[in-house]
Amino acid sequence: MKIIHTIREIREYVREQRTLGKTVGLVPTMGSLHDGHLSLARQAKAECDVAVMSIFVNPLQFGPSEDYDRYPRNLEGDARLAETAGVDAIFAPPVHEMYPQPQMTFVDVEGLTENLCGASRPGHFRGVATVVTKLFNIVQPDKAFFGQKDAQQVRVIEQMVQDLNIPVQIVPCPIVREADGLAMSSRNVYLSPEERRQALAIYRALQAAEAMFGAGERSADAIREQVRSIIEAEPLAEVDYIKIVDLQTLSDTSLIDRDCLLAVAVRFGGTRLIDNVILRP
Ligand code: PAJ
Repeated sequence: MKIIHTIREIREYVREQRTLGKTVGLVPTMGSLHDGHLSLARQAKAECDVAVMSIFVNPLQFGPSEDYDRYPRNLEGDARLAETAGVDAIFAPPVHEMYPQPQMTFVDVEGLTENLCGASRPGHFRGVATVVTKLFNIVQPDKAFFGQKDAQQVRVIEQMVQDLNIPVQIVPCPIVREADGLAMSSRNVYLSPEERRQALAIYRALQAAEAMFGAGERSADAIREQVRSIIEAEPLAEVDYIKIVDLQTLSDTSLIDRDCLLAVAVRFGGTRLIDNVILRP
């Protein structure tokens, strides 16, 4: 497996692979890899000849009071894990390689970024869409793999490649969970043992919602109230949002009569966790 730090070298690597007739899959990450990231890499390797993983903690998508500085970084450990998942090349540029001068051009996906995490993290999706556009232009993959854990991110990127005619196929991949149900996240390492224990309420609440929905409940309010009561039973939980939105438009809905997304963001201590489930009538 190759570890590449410059745009010139990753372009050269991809060009060589293409000359050999190989297809290229890209898995964008911020590193601190866990099984969620590795599942995307395995999927990329299953669907493409060559799997490239980018590892870049993108300053543009962090708010001023967010965890950019303390975000966990561990390129050596990540490289070992990526190799086990079949990654052929890691692209890990330093910040000055991606942003050699102040960026003046940004990609803004309107509408889809106003609700959910977009409401509590202003500028976040502009940072994501901009860096993903840069990564697509640098690597020029056939396919790119994104986790459904960040469901809003998947919709934003899908819309972006359609609107801007970027020739890459977006492949959404299922949420990977710990054995007890907590969705894997690089931020889980911030949780104290007690916060970690209470955070399981998120998954319990999503399961309860699925059960209600399975039994025929179609009122978004009724399901949201159930989710809220399970999560707020934990004294350390601070709900940021609990929302049921149309899966296509990501706007709030009161009646679940089409594919909808139940998405939650909850803080435990200083750590903000997100999770979701799709409700399909
Ligand atoms: P990061 O949080 O590192 O996540 C990288 C990819 O892994 C994303 O597509 C995310 O949805 C996926 N992922 C994370 N946890 C997962 C889980 N438990 N199950 C399945 N997939 C999971 O998302 C980002 O980085 C950044 O915004 C990025 C797209 C790299 C742009 O900077």
